[in-house]
Amino acid sequence: MCGITGYIGEQEALPRILGGLENLEYRGYDSAGIALSDTTTGKLSVYKQSGEVDELIAACPEQRPSRCGIGHTRWSTHGPPTDENAHPHTDCTDQVAVVHNGIIENYESLRTELNEHTFTSETDTEVIPHLIEDRLATGEEPVAAVRAVSDRLEGSFAFCALIEGFPGLIAVRNDSPLVIGHAEDGTFLASAVPAFLDQTRSVTYLEDGDVAVVSDDDVTLYRGGEVIDPPTETIEWEADAAEKGGYDHYMHKEIHEQPQALRQTISGRLDISAGNVALDLSIPSEHLNSLEEIQLVACGTSYYAGLYAARLLETLADVRASVTLASEYSFNGGRDPWRTLTIAVTQSGETADTLAAIRTAAQAGARTLAVTNTLGSTVTREVDDSVFIRAGPEIGVAATKTFASQVATLALLTVYIGRRRNALSASRASTVLANLRELPGAIQQVLDTETDVEAIATEYADSDSFFFIGRDLGYPVSLEGALKLKEISYDHAEGFAAGELKHGPLALVTDRTPVLAVLSDGTRASKTQNNIKEVQARGAPVIAASSLEETTHVNEQLTVPDVGLLEPLVANVYWQLFAYHVAAHKGRPIDKPRNLAKSVTVE
Ligand code: AGP
Repeated sequence: MCGITGYIGEQEALPRILGGLENLEYRGYDSAGIALSDTTTGKLSVYKQSGEVDELIAACPEQRPSRCGIGHTRWSTHGPPTDENAHPHTDCTDQVAVVHNGIIENYESLRTELNEHTFTSETDTEVIPHLIEDRLATGEEPVAAVRAVSDRLEGSFAFCALIEGFPGLIAVRNDSPLVIGHAEDGTFLASAVPAFLDQTRSVTYLEDGDVAVVSDDDVTLYRGGEVIDPPTETIEWEADAAEKGGYDHYMHKEIHEQPQALRQTISGRLDISAGNVALDLSIPSEHLNSLEEIQLVACGTSYYAGLYAARLLETLADVRASVTLASEYSFNGGRDPWRTLTIAVTQSGETADTLAAIRTAAQAGARTLAVTNTLGSTVTREVDDSVFIRAGPEIGVAATKTFASQVATLALLTVYIGRRRNALSASRASTVLANLRELPGAIQQVLDTETDVEAIATEYADSDSFFFIGRDLGYPVSLEGALKLKEISYDHAEGFAAGELKHGPLALVTDRTPVLAVLSDGTRASKTQNNIKEVQARGAPVIAASSLEETTHVNEQLTVPDVGLLEPLVANVYWQLFAYHVAAHKGRPIDKPRNLAKSVTVE
């Protein structure tokens, strides 16, 4: 996944494009580049190199007489992060420059066709400017040329072209995000809103197949062959939402944003007295009543939110629920598609494996639903219904507040389905909804103990390995706790179903492998207490996040406030803080862990 941006307007383009790239760096950060068209001559100049945006800014001239340009920050998929493979890519005449996000699946055959041309990179993207060059050489006008070229591309792509002598930017969206920002003194194009959130909140989300021509004073939007007026929306997020708000890392800010994010997630959706949930869904109750199975498909942290939800659905909505890693998903096993609801859980809404899985379910005839954080994202265009988790923008690669908002949204969905299936009584539903209302406060209580968690993290930071254990709802949280620590501290960590230790993993336990255990409602805590005795007997230090009156055989006890089935979710915040402070203690690049990116748009 990469970040692309563009600007045309009355102001100098260079600082606006570089500023946009800085704000998009969470989307990929192994190389960056810009292309500018000279205000007087229309000639293009390109600056690009491997490395982060800061290094590009240092390499760029202070000023350039240009009011129109494009930019790119990269996460390699085709060709290693080198200067040559950095975007923008140009044609043989250097009169066409292109930045691209996504994958051109048929680039090899197109490249063979273009064997007269001189290629300078290993990327899939470089075929685009050369294809445009060919069409322009036939005398075709730029917009028609770009549209014709986009019709020849297969795969997922959003690209923006800058063509010498053409007074504007031409952008195409197909299965990769692209949004236009309408500012007083110009127009922006970007993969995501944070790129220009400090300049404008008035946006137009492009849809698949859209072609946008952005000139000084106008935006022409081609949709389905028609020219339409760009539908605009207003972004509620505050400008500083995209900035660190005084924290050292976005991840740390986002951990502390969880109470606010959860208030947004539940606001206007709870009817506690009636035990009902308001969700804007079109799925008919008859369909919910005839369901035989709810499938959840997702990757990484979202998969663990799915695991949590499956247990809630089976407990509260009396429906069989299965969770599948999206990359392993297929629709078979004699399932009746008419009695199956498939839910894609994905904060970015752009994860390729999850998109592929939900398309498979839709093609099989299953009803589909997305639980996502990103309005206008691709998944919302692939499903029958979408439920937004409303966590606000998450910049840190390691998901934190979106996990909490995903689980809370899935708990809302569970009550919604349980009530419509007459499987959940109004009083039981009221209890769960009351717990949801108390969740932000419960998490704030945990955040207020950060200094204690930091001390514990520092004490055990240099351990050999870390094991997270829990049962029932404590199991997905143990997997998530281990993932967070792995992602940002690069330490070996594993999550286990506590009952599994005796069947092998116990062999790994020593006095240098701290065990982090969840003991609370919904986790069969008394049984986990026995597993704690087993590991402590092998010398392992035990850190327990517990809502029990008394938790024995532990070295550190962290109190979990009483919010019923959501207690393991609250306990997870202790694991987020633990991971953050272990990584901070080791000076890790917490917001941009090596080899990872915020959302993985390749299968
Ligand atoms: C979590 O911290 C990671 N960033 C990663 O595992 C992520 O959860 C996964 O790639 C799924 O992303 P999505 O929710 O945007 O689909």
